[in-house]
Amino acid sequence: MKIAVLNGSPKGATSVTMQYVRYLQKEFPQHELNILDVSSRVGKIEKDEGVFQEITAEVQSSDGVLWAFPLYYMLVHSGYKRFIELIRERDATDAFRDKHAALLATSIHFFDHTAINYMHGICDDLDMRYVGSFSADMYDLLKDEERSALHLFATEFFDSIERGTRPQKTYAPVARREFDYTPGRVEEKVDPGGKKILVVTDSEDGQTNLIRMVERFRSSFVGDIEVVNLCDVDIKGPCLGCIQCGYDNHCVYEGKDGYIDFYNTKVKTADIVVWAGTIRDRYLSSRWKLFLDRSFFNGHVPSLTGKQMGFIISGPLSQIQNLRQMLEGYVELQHANLGGFVTDEFGDSVEIDDSLQDLARRLTRFADTGYARPHTFLAVGGAMLFRDAIWGRLRFPFRADFVAYRRSGAFDFPQKNLKSRVQNGLMLLLSRSPQFRKEVNRRMKDEMVKPLRKFLED
Ligand SMILES: Cc1cc2nc3c(=O)[nH]c(=O)nc-3n(C[C@H](O)[C@H](O)[C@H](O)COP(=O)(O)O)c2cc1C
Repeated sequence: MKIAVLNGSPKGATSVTMQYVRYLQKEFPQHELNILDVSSRVGKIEKDEGVFQEITAEVQSSDGVLWAFPLYYMLVHSGYKRFIELIRERDATDAFRDKHAALLATSIHFFDHTAINYMHGICDDLDMRYVGSFSADMYDLLKDEERSALHLFATEFFDSIERGTRPQKTYAPVARREFDYTPGRVEEKVDPGGKKILVVTDSEDGQTNLIRMVERFRSSFVGDIEVVNLCDVDIKGPCLGCIQCGYDNHCVYEGKDGYIDFYNTKVKTADIVVWAGTIRDRYLSSRWKLFLDRSFFNGHVPSLTGKQMGFIISGPLSQIQNLRQMLEGYVELQHANLGGFVTDEFGDSVEIDDSLQDLARRLTRFADTGYARPHTFLAVGGAMLFRDAIWGRLRFPFRADFVAYRRSGAFDFPQKNLKSRVQNGLMLLLSRSPQFRKEVNRRMKDEMVKPLRKFLED
């Protein structure tokens, strides 16, 4: 059986993910697993149509496709994202249709589910026969039970191809509506009161709704605000995954392009940051993804602390809750506050005008009052995962993160709480007595609300 393995790592063959593929090649010598580097060669693939066609021809002549990729910022690497965009742009969807597909991801399990959801959606959009996913921790291959799980996963994949299974789809196609937004006049402008506002967009010619929404938002304010188009930011290349920045936050691109300067002088210094983009497939554009991946020079430390953030999105965001979750999780993990989303997917131009105006008002008000809504599971869980990783196995090479976490008190392991340890020890001991448990059961509800009562007294 011939399988096309689409390599999503910017590191080519020297990639953690590819070691998992090499393992499968060793375990299943009866099958041919052909690795096609996609992310690391995306520049060439984009420029040279012949290289792109070689890849799609290989997919076409294969019995199945293994999408093998590392996690990059809750999704796939920007190069992989670009390749996925090219499949539609270059009308190459036929090569993928009806092929059995499986996903093999490596990561530290931070938002791996959103990347898997995205890629699953892409397989469904391409009318592939999606068999399943295997999301491994980057060092799972060291464990006997994980190696045998991987073996079983691959066996199931090959069997499904042999049996010609037709799995049901999980994701309905994303429906876009044809609608021309026509902005109206701004009746009452918002005074930003000295707050620095930055809108980052990636709008291209023809994306009229996005361009008009950004312009309408811009004119909601008294005075001008800064709008930067990512297409004008000098970004020489994608994140290489070299993690040389881990030591002291210095990126290998330093002095070679304008990205770091842009991030440090424009993004980090703004009080209010609004991101604007058009939905491409089931995410924003690969240009946006490039922007995000390159921000990795900040490590796992929030770089937008205290900012108010909003999103202006052209496209059916409500149909892609996975994307919404990634954006919400991102804002929370950056310790920014989410002011809201505005899209052009519902309603008429007047409603969009009102929503943009309200976003301007809310962001300014929240910036004035310093409002930050509480974190949800997305950041609470994510921060704990990072805390444990930076304390433990990732302390080296992420030395800069370790220093920053120690300074900010992020290593707030619960076992340091002596009072609760003593209290719990005592209660566990006492709870051996049936009378004590009876008494606890009687008073439980009351005791739970007791500490809150002092804030309710007049
Ligand atoms: C820029 C960057 C972003 C990353 N983002 C994530 C992430 O969102 N979630 C996660 O679990 N791991 C993330 N990782 C870790 C990688 O996914 C992980 O190390 C992977 O095994 C690397 O595979 P590769 O060597 O095949 O590229 C990220 C790594 C880098 C360098």
